[in-house]
Amino acid sequence: MLPALPFRLTLNQARGRAGRAVLDPEGFAEAKSAITAWPGYEPTPLHDLPGLAAGLGVAAVRWKDEGARFGLGSFKALGGAYAVARHLRQTLGRDGIAATDADLASGRFAHRTRRVTVACATDGNHGRAVAWGAQRFHCRAVVFVHATVSAGRAEAIARLGAEVRRASATYDDAVRLCAETAAREGWMVISDTSWPGYEEIPRAVMQGYRLMAEEAYAQWRGDPPTHLFIQAGVGGAAAAVAAQAATTFGDGGPRVIVVEPMAFDGIARSLAAGRPVASPPGPDTLMAGLACATPSPLALAELLLRAEAAVGVPEEAVAPTMRLLARGIGRDPPIVAGESAVAGLIGLALARANRGAAAALGLWPGARVLLFGTEGATDPDLDARHVSCCEAVA
Ligand SMILES: Cc1ncc(COP(=O)(O)O)c(C=O)c1O
Repeated sequence: MLPALPFRLTLNQARGRAGRAVLDPEGFAEAKSAITAWPGYEPTPLHDLPGLAAGLGVAAVRWKDEGARFGLGSFKALGGAYAVARHLRQTLGRDGIAATDADLASGRFAHRTRRVTVACATDGNHGRAVAWGAQRFHCRAVVFVHATVSAGRAEAIARLGAEVRRASATYDDAVRLCAETAAREGWMVISDTSWPGYEEIPRAVMQGYRLMAEEAYAQWRGDPPTHLFIQAGVGGAAAAVAAQAATTFGDGGPRVIVVEPMAFDGIARSLAAGRPVASPPGPDTLMAGLACATPSPLALAELLLRAEAAVGVPEEAVAPTMRLLARGIGRDPPIVAGESAVAGLIGLALARANRGAAAALGLWPGARVLLFGTEGATDPDLDARHVSCCEAVA
């Protein structure tokens, strides 16, 4: 299916013994009840891809397609925008005002909420989600992007009314600059990653992401999935998928496999070490949403407890995999997937084709695999370039 490119498999030897559950059921119930009440909410589709499954030699492959989520192109509104609304509700609550998200969206309290500034660092999708939340719920947003965030992605954030500051070299630099600036200016940081002493908001972000997983598990028909492949930047999405799998399927549920760019393999290093370890500086990645060197400690706690393994995938596989999905195999529907969304499928394809990795992960012909297509064409220019450049070499 893909050429035998190099990849890296790191098993989580401490699974079930290290880490801890950080996502409580109440927090998810709160997130679900808020988000499902937003106008425009509907579950994103789960596509069955039997042609792809046959090509990979497994029983089933299904694709949770987040491309249409709230018109933003990725799953991220479930986290960033939810955390913005929650913060505004709490701010009003401190003044004795019990507001709902609908009250906020109506502009009823805009004279108060406009005084609030939320800030975040982003490689694209989280910033867009925060900007969208700020626009929808009426506050100001400042979004820090690093050097390699594409112009298309920065413009999409600015079009939502946020002030975009292009500042630092890497995502991790932008996270630091954002936190420092916000502390100085009295802004609220809405980060998808955590650090010591800053956990409440990233926890709420992950609680929102759980809705993507809950929908997918409810949409799954027939025998339950045996494997979940989920790509990671700071690890929040993977932690949410894993936590929700434990809730839905209990012990003995699907194996959760986290997939990262080889150049940004902080989760693999951290699973091996049993504590957060950053990936060393190195080359950049096409998978912009996954270009995070330092894992979120909060997410990592959940992943140490529940993830089976991490797979590091090579850059060369990204464009061919986007192309494969865009074309569709056999009767499979064509899928539009951004660069960061295909990492899970790359991890599955490379591991399935490698005897040792397939054995270690139990990826046999009976495997039923759920992939999370976490973004559609979030930068259509880049997307077109990858799909057509690959067409030229195919
Ligand atoms: C499309 C896409 N998929 C996956 C991720 C990974 O999410 P996390 O950083 O929570 O691991 C991101 C993060 O920005 C993303 O944009």
